[in-house]
Amino acid sequence: MTCRICGAPTERVLDLGEMPPANRLKDSLEQFENSYPLVMEYCRECSNLQLQYCVDAAELYANYLYVTPDSPSLEAHYAKLIGRLASQGYIDKSSFVVEFGSNVGSFLRRLKPEVARILGIDHAENICAIARERGIETECRYFGPETAEEIRSTRGPADLIVARHCAAHNENPHLLIEGVTGLLSPDGVFLMENAYGLETLRNFEVGQVYHEHMFFFTVQAVERLFAMHGMRLLDVSIEPVHGGSVVFAAARAESRHPTLPSVAEHRELERAALTPSLLAEFPRRLEEMRRQVRGLVDTAVGSGQSIWLYGASAKASTFVNYVGLTREEIPYCADSTPVKQGRFLPRANIMVRPEMEAFGAAPDYFLITAWNYADEIVAKIRANCGTRPRIIVPHPTVAVLS
Ligand code: TYD
Repeated sequence: MTCRICGAPTERVLDLGEMPPANRLKDSLEQFENSYPLVMEYCRECSNLQLQYCVDAAELYANYLYVTPDSPSLEAHYAKLIGRLASQGYIDKSSFVVEFGSNVGSFLRRLKPEVARILGIDHAENICAIARERGIETECRYFGPETAEEIRSTRGPADLIVARHCAAHNENPHLLIEGVTGLLSPDGVFLMENAYGLETLRNFEVGQVYHEHMFFFTVQAVERLFAMHGMRLLDVSIEPVHGGSVVFAAARAESRHPTLPSVAEHRELERAALTPSLLAEFPRRLEEMRRQVRGLVDTAVGSGQSIWLYGASAKASTFVNYVGLTREEIPYCADSTPVKQGRFLPRANIMVRPEMEAFGAAPDYFLITAWNYADEIVAKIRANCGTRPRIIVPHPTVAVLS
């Protein structure tokens, strides 16, 4: 295959075979589910990591169920981002901000008091309706050059465009960046946040590999992508949210904003770390994790103990199907998202139930499948179930908390 950023040939890093789309929770056990190849590949030319096969967006994003959870760690992250946007002079009280992939508007809600105008763009009607109920003006559509042109002509250019955990969910990032350059004001800033490809590899996070993540962005690849569209990176930071994220700030090459030292620092750190041996170690370490988790589950279930998953995240889907866990061993998964409750994780057929039900059931074990929120979830379990349940945390290394 070829790199969808620079066009050079790619090499295979990980092949998970055919998997069902991770966020496609089933309404019933009988519901038919499609599976598609899930293969991660690497481009030596620009250091891009991408999925080889991209599922059609209409198939992938119909009936979208992902709702940003209410979480203290995310709130703290938003506050930090907004503080930095203001202190670096990227926003002020006169700014117009557009966020695409804005989901239920959690980030825009925090940003609203700091700027003049905000607009959310999201493709899922059910999700846009929740955002509007929360007072966040949201247009239901995909973002691209046409949408950008329409917003620009009706509302004027944007001083800040935000894309948090959505730019990698698109097969053609060139179209997105064309949209961004079409809508940005001359000194406008584009803030893009994604799971960081290097962290995915370094933390051996199989859960990050699912069909929506068509790219695992790296600093080098993104710098190349922006340069192809006359843009320049201004700042790069690595944040702990969503299992290791990278936040890029970029602007037109000729913008008044300076390029900060963080860009060269992270580019060099990445060059040193993203080596052929890391790429080769990735599938080996995943195998090891799979054996460890399998062993723990087999021992617990074999001795008559009960297990619940905690967190029906997309990463949970890849994780359970990679390890080969099913409802035969683990019938339930606790999750706070109402639209997920009563549905089933694809292939594994594990039923999603409200958190309070999990606490009531007080199983012998919880296996945390939203490990990016492990601290919060462990605290919740301890507050509601005391010290009895053992808690398996599969990342960064497999650990059992008792
Ligand atoms: P998340 O990591 O946000 O997403 P992804 O789908 O991209 O992997 O998913 C976290 C899931 O965990 C989400 O479905 C909500 C759930 N959750 C809880 O059930 N309780 C909690 O306390 C938290 C923080 C999350």
